[in-house]
Amino acid sequence: MVSSNVAPRYLLGNDAVAAKRLRVLDEVYHSTTVALLERAGLRTGWRCADIGCGTGLVTLTMAERVGATGSVVGVDQVQFFLDAAREQATEHGLANASFVCSNAYELAVSEVWSPGFSRQRQWEPAKAGTPNLPEQPASFDLVYARCLLSHLNEPLRALQAMAALARPGGSVVIEDIDCGGVFAHPDVPVLMRHLDLYQRVMRLNGGDPLIGRKLPRLCRKAGLSDVRYATVRPIEPAEPVKRLYPLTLACLKPAIVEAALATGHEIDALVAELNAMADDPATTVSSCPMVQVWARKS
Ligand SMILES: C[S@@+](CC[C@H](N)C(=O)[O-])C[C@H]1O[C@@H](n2cnc3c(N)ncnc32)[C@H](O)[C@@H]1O
Repeated sequence: MVSSNVAPRYLLGNDAVAAKRLRVLDEVYHSTTVALLERAGLRTGWRCADIGCGTGLVTLTMAERVGATGSVVGVDQVQFFLDAAREQATEHGLANASFVCSNAYELAVSEVWSPGFSRQRQWEPAKAGTPNLPEQPASFDLVYARCLLSHLNEPLRALQAMAALARPGGSVVIEDIDCGGVFAHPDVPVLMRHLDLYQRVMRLNGGDPLIGRKLPRLCRKAGLSDVRYATVRPIEPAEPVKRLYPLTLACLKPAIVEAALATGHEIDALVAELNAMADDPATTVSSCPMVQVWARKS
């Protein structure tokens, strides 16, 4: 495959509805993410990066845990998400979190801004037009990404860019979905229809909705060692687990219609059915399996 600096479009949107979806995603996976970060050894004073950070929900969780002697840089390509992340960092007084607009393939930073930006601990602010990598690129204790690689057409390249940021002996921690293995009881045909549309539109965009199972091999291919992994699939808290499906489909509507996989009316009807599923307390629905991998840079 020919490498390109142009990342494929992020299909799930870049507006307030997409940001709301990220909040619900975090409600579903927050506790399993925290457990993963603890397993990976996250501790006070660490310098971390969260690649494809979206609205920064995990970035801020990490910032709380590393404390004032540590720092976290969140990186994303969507400015709207980064603005929301900065607002939250300010609101929570987390001066050790900063956010950077960059393509995950390059991790060359074009802009740095944070409320208590510290020159000693953080990357130098970029001069216009110059890349702004940290002085010692391989200096992060932990480099993390949740639900980023499944959207990319060159996940290995992005993983290599992440590994390049980690210090020798540092941790690279990835979690991403694998759409196989979602269950509902009693059966909910509209959920399977949604998952089919989700997978088809993601693939048309170059993404991989089954990337979860491939992560351990990808990590080894990227040269990482001590690759360990687990799968989580929360069914609680039930409300956000179920609500994430109609929210996701609503966010994907423009891309699905553009790809002529369904009409707008069909999508609206499916979203309504998925909301009815979410409203029904008698139906048990699992979240999408999330494969978690933690590995070391030699
Ligand atoms: C599903 S969201 C996950 C956000 C966040 N990691 C979380 O778990 O809350 C995927 C994020 O990856 C970002 N993204 C997608 N492709 C990217 C790229 N090539 N470079 C940087 N960010 C990218 C999107 O803008 C989006 O914020």
